[in-house]
Parts: sequence; structure tokens; C-alpha cells
Amino acid sequence: MEKREHFSKLGHVLVAAGSAVGLGNIWKFPTLAGQNGGGIFILFYLFFVLVVGVPLILGESTIGRYAQKGPVDAYHNIAAECGQKGFSLKFWTFLGFTGAFANFIILCYYSVIAGWILQYCIKVLLVPLNEMDMALFGASISSYVTPIVYALVFLAVTIYIDVKGITAGVEKCSKFLMPLLIVLLIVCAVCSLSLPGSIEGVKYMLIPNTNNAVNAGSMGYVALAALGQCFFSLSLGTGQMITLGSYLGKDSKLASQSYGIPAVDTGVALLAGFVTLPAVFAVASVTGIDPTSQTGPGMLMYALPQSLYAAFGSTFGTIIAFLMFLLVCFAALTSTTSMVTVTASYLEEYKHVEHRKATIGIGLGVAVVSVICSLSNTPLLDSITFGGMNIQDSLDWFISNLLMPFGAFFMCVFIGYIWKAQNAIKEITNDGTVKFSWATGFKWIMMVVDPLIILVVFLSGIGILKF
Ligand code: PFF
Repeated sequence: MEKREHFSKLGHVLVAAGSAVGLGNIWKFPTLAGQNGGGIFILFYLFFVLVVGVPLILGESTIGRYAQKGPVDAYHNIAAECGQKGFSLKFWTFLGFTGAFANFIILCYYSVIAGWILQYCIKVLLVPLNEMDMALFGASISSYVTPIVYALVFLAVTIYIDVKGITAGVEKCSKFLMPLLIVLLIVCAVCSLSLPGSIEGVKYMLIPNTNNAVNAGSMGYVALAALGQCFFSLSLGTGQMITLGSYLGKDSKLASQSYGIPAVDTGVALLAGFVTLPAVFAVASVTGIDPTSQTGPGMLMYALPQSLYAAFGSTFGTIIAFLMFLLVCFAALTSTTSMVTVTASYLEEYKHVEHRKATIGIGLGVAVVSVICSLSNTPLLDSITFGGMNIQDSLDWFISNLLMPFGAFFMCVFIGYIWKAQNAIKEITNDGTVKFSWATGFKWIMMVVDPLIILVVFLSGIGILKF
């Protein structure tokens, strides 16, 4: 077995948190919480992070560390070791491939949203903060050229970093930029919470109200949105954590390594919720409109400038808003560079494409789909919808609510029934030398609880089961 370079303990948590923390936390979490009934969505979300997210991060990292390989080889080698042959062996190897595919598709619409944020870095310098509203956001994303230019600039920076092989350098920067982002989020949350009327937003976030779920669709729909967000935010079911785990040394403590990632990730998501939702409710209390009608993808780009303006006035507020959007772009960049790495390593290892060619090829492919995604927000393509969603939102729904749960479901089945939970536990405990207090729980979670949760939530989310 070829020897891999290994991460330090902190290095692994930082890189994994860098991949996990991104637009999913800062932009998507508040958006979904706003659209899906606030407190009830957040309650589901926290439950899923604890019961599904933590064990899955641990499971994926364990597969990676054991095999010391990326997802395709890891699934293939362990399955072969466990006597799988023919179709079954092919299926488990295929599971590794779905991760690379998911990363590719995510990149396509993620670049568009990162482009929106990049556009807002400039916009806050040009437009007075108090004039930044939902209408401005709508106009910004539905124009034909500008959002495409920003998305492609963002993508080009990502590809440049990956081609040059300086992802490690970028990840090093996250050592100080990530804490700075968290400090700024706290500052912005305090501003948002100090606005008159913001308390209604806090109540909406913290008090689970089943009526709100019904307004959003159904309980099952809200639960599926929360589960999908848990997968998306923690980058699960895409092979990311398997890849990162493969860089862990055999003496690392897998269980304790796996707690830091969901803790940081969920903390950042909640903070972002407190930045946006209370501000949306505060502004709505002045204008008299229904605040829930103001929730949606443009929330961050409208709530942030409004609350910073109220707290700091025009000049200082603009500086903070600019810094904030810039740091969100950076957080997005640490996610996109790792998506490209996972997709490119598949082309390099299995199609023997040279690194530079693989990376640029992916960049070009993503660029084409990104343009289509961006145009799906314009009159040119917005009439093409699937289940009421435009192309960009449909891709996101397909990945978060279908492909990631698919990958996660079969990862549990793989650990529970193919590799066998006791072998995974042997790896987690470094052959019984490290304490793992919930080993029995882990076994049942992999074998029964999580596959069942994923299945039930999925079936109810698409309306086959009703609750
Ligand atoms: N977890 C990232 C975020 O929250 O922004 C998104 C993501 C990155 C999803 C990498 C999946 C992935 F493989």
C-alpha cells in the first residue's frame, strides 16, 4: 500500500471544516430556515446533525483512514477484502464514483451563488447600504451578463488555485480567516439583534411551530429539507470525508477528530441565521409586510447591509459589509477548491489524465453548466422548471435530497453489512486501544437507525409516506 502524507490533528479538523463551512452555512441555512418554518426546521436540523451527521462523518473518515485511499479505491478495496465479487463489487466501486459526480454538479451551481456574493462585495461599495433591498437582489441575479461574469471569475480563481497546487496555502490562510469570519458574524448578529422588532425573528427561529411547517409544505417536506441541508453543509455522501480521512495517520483518534467538524459547522450556520432572520423581521416590522414573504435566497444580501447601516451608519457599515462578503467568498473558495480536488483526483487516478489537464477540463465543463444555471434565473430559461423549481434550484434539490442521501444510505449499509460494524469499530478504537464510548450505538446507528431515518424522511419528503 502506497504511503500517504498525514495531516496533523488540527490540520485535519481545519481542512475538513474549511471544506464543510461555506455558502451552505452562511447563505443556504438561513434561506432554508426562513422558507421552512424557522424553529421547526432548525429543530429537525439539529436532530439530524447529531443522529445522522456525526456518525456519518465518523463512518466516512473511518473508511478513508482504514483504506488510506480516496472513495473509489476505498470502497473497492474494502469490498474486495470482504469477499464481494461481480455486480456487488461493481456497485460498491460505483458508490465511490457518485461522490465525484456530486462534487462536479455542486460546483456548477455553487459557483453561481459564490458569484452573487462576489458581485455584492463590489455592490456594497457602489450602492448606499440602506438602499440595498430584495428588488436590487432580484435585478442583480436576473440580468444576463453580470452574474455569469462573476461566477466565471470565481470559478477561474478556484481552478487557478487547484492547477497551481496551492490549495494547501489557501487552507493555511483559513487558520486566521475562518476565526475572523466567525468574529465578524458575531458582530453582525449583535447588530441584527439590536434592531427594533428583531425579537420576532428570534422567536421565529427558536420556537418550533408545527403550523409553520404546514405553511411551508408538510412536516415530511420540512424534514427532508433539513436532512438534505445536514448532508450539504457537512459535505456528506460525496466522498469528501473519505478523502480527508485517508490523510489521517493510523495513530489519530478518529472519534474525537469527528466531533469538531459538525460543532464548528453548526455554530457558523446558527450564527448566520441570527445575522439574517432577525434583521428581516425587524425591517418587515417597519414596512408592515409579512416577513416570511421576504425570506429567500436574497435574504443575506439584504439583511446584512440593512442591519450594518442601522448599527454603524454608512461609512463604517460599508467597510464591515465589504469585509463580510469578502470572507464569505473565501469560505466558499475553500469549499470549491476541495470539490475540484475530489473530482480531479478521480480523473487523474482512473482515467490517467494529467493533473493540469484534468483540472482545466473540469473547469471548462463546470463553466458551461454554470452559465446555464445562471441563465435559469433570467427570462431566457426561467420557464424551464422541474417540480416548480428552475434548473439551478432543481440541481441543488437533486444533489441535496437525492444523491447525497443515496450515498449516505449505502455508506451505512456498507459499514453495517459488508465491512461489518465491528471492523469499523476496531479501526475507530485503533485495535481496542482508544476509548469509544458509544460503540454499540454506532453499530445500531449504521445498521438500522440511519438507513431507516434516511429512507423514511426521503419517502415522506417526496410525498409517498405522509406524516
Ligand atoms: N459543505 C459545503 C457548504 O456548506 O458550503 C458545500 C459542499 C462542499 C458540499 C463539498 C459537498 C461537498 F462535497
